[in-house]
Amino acid sequence: MTTLVSRRTEALITAPRDANDWDAFDAVARRAFGDARHDSRLLRPHVVARLATVDNEVVGGAMAFRAQQFFGRQPVPGCCIATVCVAPEWRGRGIAGRIIEALIGQMTRDGAVLSALWTPAVGVYRRWGWEIGGLARCYSLPIAALRSMPEGAGEIRRGAAAGLCAFQRRLAEDWDGPIERPEWWWDWKYPRDGRGPWLSHVIDGDDRLRGILGYREKRVKPWGYDLIVSDFWARDRSAARTLCRYLLDHGSQARRVTFQQNVLPGTPFMLWELPHHDLRDQGWYPWMLRVLDVPAALTHRGWPEIDARLDLEIMDGATGPRRFVFECSRGKASVAEGGSGLVKLSLGHLASWYAGALDRDALRRLASSAVPESIIALMDTLTRGPSPWLPDIF
Ligand SMILES: CC(C)(COP(=O)(O)OP(=O)(O)OC[C@H]1O[C@@H](n2cnc3c(N)ncnc32)[C@H](O)[C@@H]1OP(=O)(O)O)[C@@H](O)C(=O)NCCC(=O)NCCS
Repeated sequence: MTTLVSRRTEALITAPRDANDWDAFDAVARRAFGDARHDSRLLRPHVVARLATVDNEVVGGAMAFRAQQFFGRQPVPGCCIATVCVAPEWRGRGIAGRIIEALIGQMTRDGAVLSALWTPAVGVYRRWGWEIGGLARCYSLPIAALRSMPEGAGEIRRGAAAGLCAFQRRLAEDWDGPIERPEWWWDWKYPRDGRGPWLSHVIDGDDRLRGILGYREKRVKPWGYDLIVSDFWARDRSAARTLCRYLLDHGSQARRVTFQQNVLPGTPFMLWELPHHDLRDQGWYPWMLRVLDVPAALTHRGWPEIDARLDLEIMDGATGPRRFVFECSRGKASVAEGGSGLVKLSLGHLASWYAGALDRDALRRLASSAVPESIIALMDTLTRGPSPWLPDIF
């Protein structure tokens, strides 16, 4: 475990004692993120939180929940870290480090072998062993551009569909990075209070689910709204078209459609569907991954159906270098301590490679010149699945 404490502070790190602590944490988060809507009430039953208090005043905190994350089509036990914040007047005293250390300690004891988070503060997490898994992108286009979208099949129904969780999981597991969303995810993101955001879905003639859309309206001046899409899951091209045509049906009031950060994987499908390029691409910030248990993370992941061996030396500031022999065959890996340690990676770079975020050029730049090209090519092949994609914002 990386040591996170760099400076002593008088803050105590505890679990929230009651609803007042949670409310005070929300107030710190609202200041830290500049987001007046920040409200953890729907999450509280499902997450573990650690707060920093000074003289009984909450000055910072963070929360985490257990979730499996798909890599190589296998669910790997992990945890998602969210809402890491410290009140501005208490920053720079090592408080965030102590909160994260307490939270990761608990998650590791609960069986997590990976940890994912979203952050613009990449330098903060890099020093603690997280490294880039992927970058989020948002795409937007004028709603009128969707007029050229061909009609798809199926019918739109309003609301959450029966079988929603299983449907989304089936599509998500084809990618490297999505979490297996817990059942409560959908009620958290789409509360049933009638105020949106909303869910709609597409069914085919046999009542089978073909697509899911999550979206909300955002007022624009002087009148009308933009549509903000927060989930877009389509079984095939036809279902994707039906969902787009449904968005277009809002066109008498709606101006633009924005596919929020990482709603769409890879290259957006509209590029192949629309005759005129109206898509605006806006970057967002990255997600990062940390490997909490190297042998367990490597053995849980799915691997290509090739026979391979890597002699790894993983450099972790807390434990010093550790050597592992990684072997895989028929899509499964085994890991033993020892070996020559030919391939030297920091804990962070191991996480990026694991996520599929390091291509051959990046691997070549990171590896020492002693690593032969054949090993670089093998490492590239091992994690060169679908592009890493974390569609889950937490
Ligand atoms: C990011 C944040 C939680 C850090 O809180 P903090 O208590 O000041 O952090 P710490 O004092 O524990 O600092 C941790 C380390 O990161 C470094 N650090 C802190 N802020 C940093 C920044 N913005 N960029 C780079 N490094 C930073 C510190 O120097 C420290 O390094 P050290 O351990 O070598 O001394 C705080 O700035 C915050 O609440 N920001 C707004 C919310 C946010 O962006 N959260 C992160 C997204 S999830």
